Amino acid sequence: MPHPAHDGDRGSVAYRTLGVTKVYPTGETEVHALRGVDLEIPDGEFVVLLGASGSGKSTLLNILGGLDRPTEGRVFFRDAELTRMNDTALTGFRREHVGFIFQFYNLIPSLTARENVALVTDIANDPMPAEDALGMVGLAERIDHFPSQLSGGEQQRVAVARAVAKRPDVLLCDEPTGALDSATGITVLEALESVNRELGTTTLVITHNSGIAAMADRTIVFADGAILEVRVNEEKRPARELQW
Ligand SMILES: Nc1ncnc2c1ncn2[C@@H]1O[C@H](COP(=O)(O)OP(=O)(O)O)[C@@H](O)[C@H]1O
Ligand SMILES: [Mg+2]
Repeated sequence: MPHPAHDGDRGSVAYRTLGVTKVYPTGETEVHALRGVDLEIPDGEFVVLLGASGSGKSTLLNILGGLDRPTEGRVFFRDAELTRMNDTALTGFRREHVGFIFQFYNLIPSLTARENVALVTDIANDPMPAEDALGMVGLAERIDHFPSQLSGGEQQRVAVARAVAKRPDVLLCDEPTGALDSATGITVLEALESVNRELGTTTLVITHNSGIAAMADRTIVFADGAILEVRVNEEKRPARELQW
């Protein structure tokens, strides 16, 4: 797949969606998970997506990441329209441009932190060394540890290193702190903050924890499959100062 036409300067738009809907057929009824989402995410921003359980956050994230397709509407990443791509192109988009982080880390237990990250860098175009990715998330001292020798927060930071080692343009994080206590969750958010600052990776973090919005450039509040409110944050707080 060709590279996108430009390199994500600030001021340009990473994602744009127009009238995105998602309907799941479930037996006799239908679930309207997304009801016409119009969205713009500027390149390089750290965006928090807030909303109650069932409001459609994960559905939207999966569509932005090319894991799923909308029922109707259009999705653009920079100059490329995801909703016009065939499955092969969409897989290529995902591989080349998107890093995912989920609530559960899915590390391979028999591999060290370095080896878990190297699994991804072995197949990427222009990866960073696994050591560098682990250093960026504060795990330089832990590279030869196995997952069972790491805390939950450290394991999630390995997952962050694994996602960023291929230098994705966007990082899509679905409740990355959902399984962690607040102090540990903050160490994971600090890792995401470092990646966003040092690599300029556009970052979207789903949470139902409104305290996390304080560190975001922009907060999108979701309710019942639609955007309720977009707030631009003029005075971001560092992750280490967050509380919830
Ligand atoms: N694969 C699916 N099949 C049927 N319904 C689904 C599916 N995935 C999600 N839903 C429904 O779509 C709505 C939005 O879900 P989701 O995007 O997971 O919300 P959130 O991430 O905000 O909790 C919910 O009502 C959920 O039950
Ligand atoms: Mg969800």
